[in-house]
Amino acid sequence: MSGHKKIIIGNWKMHFTVKQAAAFATKFISKSVPADVLVGVTPNCLALSEVSGVLSKSAINVVSQNAYYEDEGAFTGEVSMPMLRGLADFVLVGHSERRHILRESNDYTREKCAAAFRSGIVPILCVGETLVERQNYHTNQVLNDQLSVGLADLTTEEVSKMIIAYEPVWAIGTGEYARPEDVEKAVAKIRAEVTSLYGAIAGASVKVLYGGSVTRENARSYLEINGIDGLFVGGASLSVANFLANSRNCRVSLVLKLNKKKKEA
Ligand code: 13P
Repeated sequence: MSGHKKIIIGNWKMHFTVKQAAAFATKFISKSVPADVLVGVTPNCLALSEVSGVLSKSAINVVSQNAYYEDEGAFTGEVSMPMLRGLADFVLVGHSERRHILRESNDYTREKCAAAFRSGIVPILCVGETLVERQNYHTNQVLNDQLSVGLADLTTEEVSKMIIAYEPVWAIGTGEYARPEDVEKAVAKIRAEVTSLYGAIAGASVKVLYGGSVTRENARSYLEINGIDGLFVGGASLSVANFLANSRNCRVSLVLKLNKKKKEA
């Protein structure tokens, strides 16, 4: 819930060789990364082991970009959730690029969220509407469908622990960014839907991030949104300087909010 530790996850997507990913991690932890922000990076599966080793003594979290929902078997080319144990703290589920380019369905995200928890890995379920859906006023319906199916096999305790990333598809990698007031509405909708499915405690405890053309310049406008817990950053997480600036933005916004609360008390 807003007011908790802020979260910033960098989505490296299909960038960085193993060597480059390890070099990024080494350089990143040599800087002063704010300790009161939950920071995560997402190496590709080849680089997971190396990056996880580099970050093992740091507080930085490792996020897997993907994993299959079966625990083992004849699934050529796939990596399972149990294989991520000890290497990743979180796993992405339903990122829009997987939904729209790789045809992952809501049912697939449901299986993956449940499989992640079976292996002790926390899923980050990505949700969001396309431009056409938005233009047709279907945003709320899309969020409802993605959440009601994606979360269907989880317990209330599991939902309370997980992260949901609101990423409007039309704002990803396009430089088009969503207006903070629209993001606020979507975040409220997400919390309301989780509340109606799993109750008020889950609705308040689930962490909600915004992603879509976040930069070091616009980051704070999103961090000030009611009910938001942090940011999911693509392009602007690929340089150590930018990602560090975004992490510090999370810290600054946290301190500002705490000060505001103190004054109000
Ligand atoms: P961009 O920040 O490059 O728009 O990507 C966002 C994203 O896909 C995060 O998962």
